[in-house]
Amino acid sequence: MSHLLLLSPAANRVYAGAAGSLVAAELEICTGLAATPVTLAEVDYLSFDAASLSSEELAAVARSSARLALFERAGDLLRPVALPTVDVLDDDFVSIPKYQGKTNEQFTRLLLNVTRAAAEPPAGRPVTVLDPLCGRGTTLAVAWTLGLHAAGVEADVKAFEAMGAFWKTWLRRKRLKHSADITPVRREGKSIGRRFDAKVRISEGELTATVFTGDTRDSAKLFGKKKFELIVADAPYGVVHGSRTDVKGVAGKRDRSPAGLLGEAVDIWAGQLAPGGAFGLSWNTLGLSREKLTAMVADAGLTVLDDGPWLRFGHRVDSSIHRDILVARRTS
Ligand SMILES: C[S@@+](CC[C@H](N)C(=O)[O-])C[C@H]1O[C@@H](n2cnc3c(N)ncnc32)[C@H](O)[C@@H]1O
Repeated sequence: MSHLLLLSPAANRVYAGAAGSLVAAELEICTGLAATPVTLAEVDYLSFDAASLSSEELAAVARSSARLALFERAGDLLRPVALPTVDVLDDDFVSIPKYQGKTNEQFTRLLLNVTRAAAEPPAGRPVTVLDPLCGRGTTLAVAWTLGLHAAGVEADVKAFEAMGAFWKTWLRRKRLKHSADITPVRREGKSIGRRFDAKVRISEGELTATVFTGDTRDSAKLFGKKKFELIVADAPYGVVHGSRTDVKGVAGKRDRSPAGLLGEAVDIWAGQLAPGGAFGLSWNTLGLSREKLTAMVADAGLTVLDDGPWLRFGHRVDSSIHRDILVARRTS
């Protein structure tokens, strides 16, 4: 039986152009189904063959980053297939915030989905997603939407404050039972920054989030012994805003490139991954080649997934950004 997946419109035209092949690679990783883009009466779909879809496959399709509707194809007719509800929070939690530097929300969901598919965490253990470059929290909001706990680190205090303010307002407006507070962090009597802690009650239980202000290279110090099942980040692109780059300086060095930052941070993040956990990073290949990043991640003791659909995520964002995804697993 041939199935047709209609993709949600993407706000960004360039991303919309790439979405078909990106979601096809995502589906192959998350469901094993081989999908190809097709156009029918001038409408684009992803097409795949499957005798009948299991409940796990239907849930994976429902969770995928850009699905709008699924149909079975019967000759010239399309029969709608009901998809299960998989999100535990309304999607406007992710879509309302709009700001310069926000990572595309469909892309963030894709990155989280494929990283999760690479992980083999012990069954029954709660899954926490750490975004150690969390900005205003797109990854963390997607994690909550998918029913996963969230944690983050961000050097830009304004971004941290904006995230805290939005989460508080949104949780209150939705009338969800929650707590959300920003408090100072003190070590040895000195103030070293702030933390945001939030909890929300959902029908399946409770979700938690913890975000620290600070340098991502201090992430292990900030979270102590806690290990994460998933670490997912969209690295700074090395783009200049006014006179400053989006990389928060590599201490004591002139190097303000994402490559310099990643060279120092990857080891620290790898040490924060739980056994069976997975690491997924999106980055600008114009500033750092896949070969170099693969070597950094392998040197940090992780196994990089570098064949088949894992190599089909490269796409153009604009003239100075070609984005790709690298996913790796911690096997021991
Ligand atoms: C591409 S943005 C991530 C945006 C985020 N996914 C969002 O949608 O809000 C990269 C983030 O890394 C942060 N950053 C850069 N260097 C950092 C550092 N050394 N430590 C912590 N955060 C850093 C930047 O402030 C920026 O928010």
